[in-house]
Amino acid sequence: MDLTALFSLNYGLYVLATRDTDGKYVGCVVNAAMQITAEPPSMAVSSNSQNYTTGAVLRSGMFTLSVFSEQAALKTISTFGFRSSNDIDKFKAMPYIVTESGMPVLTREVCAYVECKVTGSEDIYTHKLIRGDIIDSRRLSKESPMTYNYYHKVVKGKTPKKAASYQNG
Ligand SMILES: Cc1cc2nc3c(=O)[nH]c(=O)nc-3n(C[C@H](O)[C@H](O)[C@H](O)COP(=O)(O)O)c2cc1C
Repeated sequence: MDLTALFSLNYGLYVLATRDTDGKYVGCVVNAAMQITAEPPSMAVSSNSQNYTTGAVLRSGMFTLSVFSEQAALKTISTFGFRSSNDIDKFKAMPYIVTESGMPVLTREVCAYVECKVTGSEDIYTHKLIRGDIIDSRRLSKESPMTYNYYHKVVKGKTPKKAASYQNG
């Protein structure tokens, strides 16, 4: 088996975010997110069980996915993708809006967002596969969405161990 063949799979890059039950806004970078049905429109996200965000999404029953544009800074992606809301307030230095349902959405370096109500979750080895119905979605700018490939090739970013698509080396 040649696992590098999996580098040929395409993804976007998102901030999975929610408002925790204590009122704290939390979120982390995910690439393992996709639309899974059209009617009704729904999504699935694979989020590591050890990510602070995973538990918070399951507690609140709601989440947003802010779609990074190609203008997103490595520093922003690193803050949300390598640090934990256990230790820092990731939203402190970032402009964001709060949806009618009270969920945070990043507004800088982001070209669109979707908001979902959790409809189920399943343990998949190291990750939780979280499903949600889309209750709102909006475009925020005309910039192109960042792909996972662009993140590696152009931004020269890395992927941490907790990502669903992590590969050693
Ligand atoms: C490029 C990139 C892609 C990532 N993709 C995922 C993913 O699909 N699923 C996941 O669980 N974590 C993914 N991560 C890792 C989480 O963002 C990371 O574990 C984060 O520190 C968790 O933060 P939290 O503890 O505040 O939730 C990714 C990180 C980066 C930088």
